Amino acid sequence: MIADPSPWLAVFGRAHPVLLHAPLGLLPALFVFEFGPVLLRREVARGSVLTLSVLTALTGAAAAASGFVLGGEQDGSELLTQHKTTGLVLGGLCLLLPLLALRHGRGPFRVLLLLALGVMVPAGHLGGSITHGRDFLFEPLHTKSTTAAAAAPAQPNALPPAAVGTAAPTFVTDVLPILERVCTSCHNPDKVKGELLLTTREGLDRGGENGAVVVPGKPDDSPLLTRCLLPADHDDHMPPDGKKQPTAEELQTLRQWIAAGAR
Ligand code: HEC
Repeated sequence: MIADPSPWLAVFGRAHPVLLHAPLGLLPALFVFEFGPVLLRREVARGSVLTLSVLTALTGAAAAASGFVLGGEQDGSELLTQHKTTGLVLGGLCLLLPLLALRHGRGPFRVLLLLALGVMVPAGHLGGSITHGRDFLFEPLHTKSTTAAAAAPAQPNALPPAAVGTAAPTFVTDVLPILERVCTSCHNPDKVKGELLLTTREGLDRGGENGAVVVPGKPDDSPLLTRCLLPADHDDHMPPDGKKQPTAEELQTLRQWIAAGAR
């Protein structure tokens, strides 16, 4: 792992999210070129397969190497370690592809190709979970049911909206869903930005690298809220400019919750 990479090496590391797409496209293409002719009872175009294999090996190695540089820049987490391991295995498998593609017998090459495709799925998914949050892919399936539940009070025989919000907001029912919507993509166990964990009550109580983020009874002294109220172009504004922002109503809920003692 590289602790303090030179600036150009760091740039190479940050190119990882771009570089990784080459093997991601090339491996399925290889699959089509190798197995397509088998289905159609044609001869495999060995020249094309070899060319694609060389490209996959080069870009696969570049993706793995840049990932390693990038990973060295960040604090390790379980997710990162898993992604690194699968990524490294995938890079190694890609490097072997041209060697086996050169052989006359197709068996070993086909096994290797299927193996690489098999490793590509978890490696890619783990990587995506690091950048977008662990539950990014399947989140719409959960939120669908929560929005359905949230829409329920609009039914004629339900409580009028005015009744909602009269009681002090509570952490689990009111605050946590807001944090999960706009904060936990960066403040989660895999990506503890500012050393602040917002996925659990304990994390919130522990605070961030600069200490407590909630001062019970004092919303205007609580960075959890004040950072959101800073102008959007302020360096300390949360969530950072360009990311999903809380609504005025959500900020009001946070304010009420802190004012009422943050329980
Ligand atoms: C896109 C990523 C991202 C999102 C989304 C995000 N944050 Fe942050 N947050 C950061 C980073 C990076 C830092 C550390 C740098 C800094 O202090 O500005 C940080 C730091 C903080 C801190 C300071 C912790 C300390 O002790 O220094 C607070 C408080 C905070 N965030 C609250 C929030 C809240 C509340 C939300 C949701 C409304 C949120 N953040 C959403 C990236 C994010």
